[in-house]
Amino acid sequence: MNHIVIQRRDSARHNPARAAFAADVQAGLAGAMKSLPAKYFYDRRGSELFERICELPEYYPTRTELGLLQRHAPEMAALIGADAELVEFGAGALQKIRLLLDALQRPRSFLPIDISGAHLSDAAAALARDYPGLQVRPVAGDFTAPDLALPQRHAQARGRAGFFPGSTIGNFTPEEALCFLRQAARILGEDDAAGSGLLIGVDLVKDPALLHAAYNDAAGVTAAFNRNLLQRINRELNGDFVLDQFAHYAFYQPPQQRIEMHLVSLTAQSVQVDGRRYDFAAGESIHTENSYKYTLSGFRRLAEQAGFRPAAAWTDEDGLFSLHWLALG
Ligand code: AVJ
Repeated sequence: MNHIVIQRRDSARHNPARAAFAADVQAGLAGAMKSLPAKYFYDRRGSELFERICELPEYYPTRTELGLLQRHAPEMAALIGADAELVEFGAGALQKIRLLLDALQRPRSFLPIDISGAHLSDAAAALARDYPGLQVRPVAGDFTAPDLALPQRHAQARGRAGFFPGSTIGNFTPEEALCFLRQAARILGEDDAAGSGLLIGVDLVKDPALLHAAYNDAAGVTAAFNRNLLQRINRELNGDFVLDQFAHYAFYQPPQQRIEMHLVSLTAQSVQVDGRRYDFAAGESIHTENSYKYTLSGFRRLAEQAGFRPAAAWTDEDGLFSLHWLALG
């Protein structure tokens, strides 16, 4: 028994991903306002639940963005130009990029960046098979890391076009979003800014009732997605969270233009993670996610502050979601 525990602790020391998760969980639960980083939602089960969220009738972003890509890919491709090198930030299943690749003239190279290296190399291999003329070079790493470096540009590529769909930027505070955009401008504009830029999906402010429904679906998939974070902590960090002792609570905050997701403790209880104890008062919450919404002009201003030239934007008839082409140079 003891022996097994010691082995686990020891192997943890050699696993930097586990160590980073453990440190973030400890920091998040030790403070007066408990929180956990949203990036940890996406273990295998979390990624499956997120895919199900994307298909929910209440969750409009995915289908609206896909519709925009389908309808406007030729215009987007014209702005990006021929012989592009594409860089996708936080690439998942690599579905959306295909719509863009199909419209582009002679795309030369594709660099998908993702934390989850194993998942990424499978998806990248499948893409390389389907696009024989395209050089696919997956980059396993954290695209928010300040020292992120990419391989040299493909010899025949003209400019670099970033792709950041899904409104993942909504997980960042506006300050963090500005920091990410500056970093993206640096990476994409590195050698030659001509033909370079960023194609980015951004969720829009709207009737709060629609936002509320999108994060409080009737089937309870979003609640399961939120609670799965505790399950992941139980499994990977020897936690003992009792899942049904925490309620999914998601609401829109108009002043900050963001959805907040929380897990609210239904009783006074204490929980152990990695041998440390955390006390919860009845009603105390763990803040698990922010999902910021923007106006078209608000997002353009942010992009300009980061050094981009907002050159085009596409939105659906109902103004639910937007895609922006932010040019460099
Ligand atoms: C992947 C961050 C864009 O904020 O809408 C969906 C994640 N959280 N339902 C979002 C999410 C709850 C999603 N992003």
